Amino acid sequence: MAELILTRNFHRPDSHALRLYQETGGYEGLQRVLALPPVTIIETVKKSNLRGLGGAGFPTGVKWGFIPKGHPGPVYLVINADEGEPGTFKDRYLLERDPHALIEGMIVSAYAIGSHLAFVYIRGEYVQPWRRFARAVEEAYAAGFLGRNILGSGFDLDVVVHRGAGAYICGEETGLISSLEGKKGWPKLKPPFPAIRGAFDAPTIVNNVETICHVPHIVQRGAEWFAALGTATQGGTRMYSVSGHIRQPGVYELPVSVTLRALIYEHAGGLPDGRRLKAVVPGGSSAPILRADEIEVAMDVDGLKNAGTMAGSAGVIVMDETVSIPEALMVVARFYAHESCGQCTPCRESTGWIFKMAQRIVEGKGRKEDLDTILDVARRGAGTTICAFYDGAVGPYISYIEKFRDEFEALIPK
Ligand SMILES: Cc1cc2nc3c(=O)[nH]c(=O)nc-3n(C[C@H](O)[C@H](O)[C@H](O)COP(=O)(O)O)c2cc1C
Repeated sequence: MAELILTRNFHRPDSHALRLYQETGGYEGLQRVLALPPVTIIETVKKSNLRGLGGAGFPTGVKWGFIPKGHPGPVYLVINADEGEPGTFKDRYLLERDPHALIEGMIVSAYAIGSHLAFVYIRGEYVQPWRRFARAVEEAYAAGFLGRNILGSGFDLDVVVHRGAGAYICGEETGLISSLEGKKGWPKLKPPFPAIRGAFDAPTIVNNVETICHVPHIVQRGAEWFAALGTATQGGTRMYSVSGHIRQPGVYELPVSVTLRALIYEHAGGLPDGRRLKAVVPGGSSAPILRADEIEVAMDVDGLKNAGTMAGSAGVIVMDETVSIPEALMVVARFYAHESCGQCTPCRESTGWIFKMAQRIVEGKGRKEDLDTILDVARRGAGTTICAFYDGAVGPYISYIEKFRDEFEALIPK
């Protein structure tokens, strides 16, 4: 059994309390870390091969290095706790069961990038995670881990907890920043990237909850240790949210090199009642689907990319042979049609029309040309919009049809 890092305390009663966090070594190395030169921490994170765990898999240390050197004004750290990707529920557990791990990660990360004000943008529906996290922030202030002159280091950090209001698009980093600024959560064109001009026009690093929770461990135990847990291009473990037709649904922390087959059959107990696997979505609803014969693949960012899909948010949705793939596409298409922010024409129009076509196919009223129309519209729209929302939607549109075309054709009247 691989060592648990992020989830090691999840089973303990009161794992969210400061007392428990400290009893298990939490905040212990902070004083030493706050005496290191910030650039050393950035270099360590670079060498560790930590890659963002929110969706895009961008190397974390490299992103931190984009903050302009010697910037005269404020720099912000923003934690993305919006967790909107269907099939993903890992950040929720981190906030609920180990909120101090995120706070310690924020202190180290903010120190590394020269930020004295950090925001945590929490998904609006996450009431208990928000309560637990907000309480932990109060505890951390009272104990001197946040605020002025943290542990006598001369470093100051304040944390603002901000609740979202239930929009998937506010998980996209520039949409999140707009929403944080009190505006409509509309994404912005990049460049400029947030590291150059982000929240309130200041250089801003946006990172996922899980990404930041890894940082104190990397700095304590070393870049080599973390890198060795993973593959040549991605270090560490990550938390897989496993749902759908599976015996033991839940969150599994495993090295990023684990195969999809091992995750399903060795760790999550396989499918219930002897049912057979039909398909798996490996990285949240935006990840292209894999057929049952494609699961012998490593779950790291590059392994899944080479298999024609993506690691995304590591939300693994297991589908057995009773699932109708056209119905599954209709459900996913309804989600994207509902959540498109409407700013870009290809996304606003195509998501709505593709949902309607998927729906009429499921209702037995599809037209012969519908499948090729969906594929054509999906392929032509990808890469033409302000943010990656539509590129994500296109993942299921194209892959569900390409891999299960017979099933769609069987529903379309001859
Ligand atoms: C439509 C859309 C929704 C997203 N939702 C989330 C989300 O809920 N949580 C998250 O961490 N990242 C989300 N992302 C990715 C963020 O834009 C960003 O890449 C991420 O927060 C960066 O953190 P990381 O480098 O630590 O992964 C989303 C991206 C898109 C295009």
